[in-house]
Amino acid sequence: MKKLILGCDHAAVELKNLVKEHLTARGFEVEDVGTHTTDSCNYPDIAHKLCTKIQSGEHTMGILICGTGIGMSMAANKHRGIRAACCSDTFSAKLTRQHNDANVLCFGARVVGMGLAIELVDAFVDAEFEGGKHAVRVDMITAIENGTLA
Ligand code: RB5
Repeated sequence: MKKLILGCDHAAVELKNLVKEHLTARGFEVEDVGTHTTDSCNYPDIAHKLCTKIQSGEHTMGILICGTGIGMSMAANKHRGIRAACCSDTFSAKLTRQHNDANVLCFGARVVGMGLAIELVDAFVDAEFEGGKHAVRVDMITAIENGTLA
């Protein structure tokens, strides 16, 4: 069974629940790291919770939703090995898997509607990394992370 980890802040609880229902109906095993209420919380806490579970190997792919998707992607990208892409169009959501081997999709509940959110999720989870020249470039991103890019 395909697995995926999901998180959001208070701005995106309803949308996260919809995404969770959609992915579950598609046969994904979904882990939800919260938040679960509309009480104000801090998106870096959620991003950190989710990213550490990808870093540990428990999951390979995640989705983070906040108001804009921007704060979540900034926080996620501070984690070694995390390549988070903030997308609000399906072309980018697909291409960031194919070319950047993104392992976290971020978007904003205050930016995209429910229909587009589901299309973003499908575009992301259905696309495969193409490797080849793209792998060379992703390795260069890792080298930047490691301070070894010439
Ligand atoms: C919360 O109000 C908001 O700042 C957050 O959801 C997100 O948009 C941050 O990037």
